[in-house]
Amino acid sequence: MHKIAVLPGDGIGPEVVAEGLKVLNALSENYSVKFDFQEFNINSERYLSTGELVTEEDIDHLRKFDSIFLGAIGDDRVKPGVLEKGILLALRFSFDQYINHRPAPLWKPFGRLKRDADFNIDVFRENTEDYYIGAGGRVSNGKGVLDLRIKRHLYDMKVRLEANADAADDFAFEIGMMSRKNIERFADHVIDFSNIIGENYITVVDKANVCSNIYSLWREVWDEKCRKAGKEHGYMYVDAMTMALVKNPDKFRLIAVPNMFGDIITDLLAEVTGGLGLAPGGNINPQGISMFEPVHGSAPKYKGMDRINPVATILATKMMMDDLGRRDLGEVIFKGVRGAFDKGVYTQDLGGRATTRQMGDAVVAAIHALK
Ligand code: IPM
Ligand code: MN
Repeated sequence: MHKIAVLPGDGIGPEVVAEGLKVLNALSENYSVKFDFQEFNINSERYLSTGELVTEEDIDHLRKFDSIFLGAIGDDRVKPGVLEKGILLALRFSFDQYINHRPAPLWKPFGRLKRDADFNIDVFRENTEDYYIGAGGRVSNGKGVLDLRIKRHLYDMKVRLEANADAADDFAFEIGMMSRKNIERFADHVIDFSNIIGENYITVVDKANVCSNIYSLWREVWDEKCRKAGKEHGYMYVDAMTMALVKNPDKFRLIAVPNMFGDIITDLLAEVTGGLGLAPGGNINPQGISMFEPVHGSAPKYKGMDRINPVATILATKMMMDDLGRRDLGEVIFKGVRGAFDKGVYTQDLGGRATTRQMGDAVVAAIHALK
């Protein structure tokens, strides 16, 4: 029995999660697997009515589950950053999900490249540090002290920033930070994955030519880890990487990237594979509780219209099955999606006519047909 915490979230989140659950239920009808789903209303509605984001109580409750299945978080009525940091990032950090795995295989015939290139890329995005630590603030009149705190499973750090400028302006800071031990464990995971898929080369992304403090530590660790593991690696600056992913995605197999640049290049790459409607992600803690979600957001303007593509979320359930040690069932979900596409069923974002529910039904039918 797999205990799954279900957080449908906001906007179109509940609609796509419903299709993901349909698919998991289809697995339990056809294979020896059982799920115990429990739904949580950790979302913007609760925030707007109670002021609560993710509470200590939520975290304690969620700790009892094997996996977390998340729809999307975001609401136009709330100032940017509140829900993102207070819910999504809070969950990633609380469960120490230091890896964000975002597979990006080409989904034929939906790829957006002009030329016919085949590719299958796995992006590993660091998921707890970099410019996402939420450490910063403002000083006005050029003077002030910021007392910052960065709390993770690996450390609890206080940082004091004292600003004293000769101009009476407002200054805003956003501090990036990486720690050696975190980069090490992240690199270990990516190298383990490279061994599983039999790939000997890792493309490591950064902007070490400008942010040379943070990314020299990143490179130091990658050099050492790859040397010890006998892996080849090469560095790409993120600007060149965005270009290369549009021009020659077939040159890449495995990409390791810091948090912020990873956010950007995975949207870009999703578009190249066929669109955001096809891109899942796993927030992974190899020793703990992982969380699976589509890469896309809550798309409030499409809420309730039954037209959003649920495949990204369905593929997130595939990643969840892989993570729960049921790669066989992950494969079934993947084949189910492929089978539905091959029957010509796809949603409007891909040029098709299927509704959200019809898409989920088609994947379920394909799964039944596999038996
Ligand atoms: C993503 C999202 C989040 C991120 C936001 C909503 C905090 O864009 O999962 O890619 O930046 O990580
Ligand atoms: Mn993003």
